[in-house]
Amino acid sequence: MSIARIKGFADMLPPRSDQFTRMENCARDIFSRYGFVELRTPLLEFTELFQRSIGEETDVVQKEMYTFPDRKGRSLTLRPEATAGVMRAYIEAGLANREAVSRLFTTGPMFRYERPQKGRMRQFHQINCECLGSQSPLADAELIIMLMRFLRALGLGELTLKLNSLGCAECRPRFKEALLNYLRGVDRHALCPDCARRVESNPLRVLDCKQPGCRALTDNAPRLADYNCPDCKAHFETVLSMLRAEELPLELDHRLVRGLDYYCRTTFEVVSGSIGAQSAVAGGGRYDGLIRSLGGPDAPGVGFACGMERLALLLGDGAEQRPDFYLLGMEEGGRMQAFALAQKLRAAGLRGEMNFSAGGFKSLMRQAGKSGARCCLIIGPDEVARGDVSIKHLDSGEQRSLPQADAILYLKQTGTAND
Ligand code: HAM
Repeated sequence: MSIARIKGFADMLPPRSDQFTRMENCARDIFSRYGFVELRTPLLEFTELFQRSIGEETDVVQKEMYTFPDRKGRSLTLRPEATAGVMRAYIEAGLANREAVSRLFTTGPMFRYERPQKGRMRQFHQINCECLGSQSPLADAELIIMLMRFLRALGLGELTLKLNSLGCAECRPRFKEALLNYLRGVDRHALCPDCARRVESNPLRVLDCKQPGCRALTDNAPRLADYNCPDCKAHFETVLSMLRAEELPLELDHRLVRGLDYYCRTTFEVVSGSIGAQSAVAGGGRYDGLIRSLGGPDAPGVGFACGMERLALLLGDGAEQRPDFYLLGMEEGGRMQAFALAQKLRAAGLRGEMNFSAGGFKSLMRQAGKSGARCCLIIGPDEVARGDVSIKHLDSGEQRSLPQADAILYLKQTGTAND
C-alpha cells in the first residue's frame, strides 16, 4: 500500500508552486522598497518561546501546537507563526545594538493543529513582516500601507482593512475589568462552550466570536475605544489619518482583538468577502512589550503576516507565465541542432523546453501544445539542411521559416518573449 500525506498538509504542485514563488518575489520587490531585509528562522523552537509570547490562554497554545519531546526529553514545537521566532533571533543576534529600527521579513511554512477546511490548513505558509525599534505611529501606518501596496501589486483589489486599538498596559486592564464585569452578568449558558470557558481565562476573545448567540450577547458590551488612554487615542488617530490620506478602504471594528496575546494599540486584519469562512488574508498589530518579556531590550514592534494559501484562493489559477517556445527536433540530426539552439534561446532570456526522444510529428505537436508555449519551433530534415528553423505561433497557427541565427531576434520582436 502506498503512503498518503498527512491530513491538513498539502503537496504544492505546479501551477500553485509557481504562484507561491510569484507571491514571494512580489513581496521581496515591494518590501525592499521600504528597507525590509529577509530573515530565515528555524521551523522548530523550544515550546516555552510560544507559550511566553503567544500566551498560555490562547487557542494556538492550548489546542493547536505540534509539540513533542526531542530525544533528550526537551519540549519542542513546530512554529505556529513567525513572530516569536523572529523576536528570539532579534534578541539572540543583538540586532537592537546594530540599528535603531530593524525591518525584517520572512516567509515559510507554519503549523497549527486546526480542523482543516477551505483556506485552513495544518501546514500553511505566511509572508511575515516585523518593524522593530520604533514606537511611532508612522511605523504602524507605513507597515499597513506597505501591506496594502503588496496586495494591490498582486492584483487583489476587493479587500477590507479592519482596524482597532487594543490600548496599552495602562488602559487595557481597566477595559478588561469592565468587560469581565459585563460578561459575568450575562447568561453563561447562552454563550458557546468556548466563550463560556473564555469569560474568565481570556475575556477579550469573547468579543470576536463568530457565533450569532455570542455576538448578540456582546453587542452592548464595553468598547475598547471608550477605555483607550489619551496616548493610545492620539497614537491611533495618527495611524488612521495617515491611512486615510492614502485612501485605504478602512473600517473600524471594535470586536477585532486578534487571537494572540502579545498585541497592544493598533491591531488590524485584511479580509476578503469571496473566500468563505476563513476570510482573513492578513493580520497583525503592535506588540510593544513582547521583546522585553522574552528577555530582550525594551524595543517596541509592529508587524503582520499574510496567509499565502488564502491569497492563492483569491488569485485563482490564472496569470501563469507561458513559456516562449517548445522546440521540436525531428530525427537525430534535428534534435542535435534543436539542442544547441535551445541553449542559445535560454541564454538570451527566453523560456522553453524541447523533446528529448523521437516521436511522430502529431504527438510531438500535441506535447508542444500541452506545454502552453506561445510558439513551436521545428527543426526537421529540411531545416537541418538549410540551417533554418520553422516557427509556428500556437495561438494563431501562423507559420514561417527563418535562419536559426535569427530566431532569438524574431521571438523577441514578435513580442512572444515574457518581459
Ligand atoms: P494570525 O492572524 O494568526 O497572525 O495569522 C496571520 C494570517 O495567517 C491569517 O490572517 C491567515 O491568512 C493565515 N493563517 C493563519 N492560520 C492559518 C491556517 N491554519 N491555514 C491557512 N492560513 C492561516 C499571526 O500569525 C501573527 N504572527 C501576525 C503578526 C506578525 N503579528 C505581528 N507580526
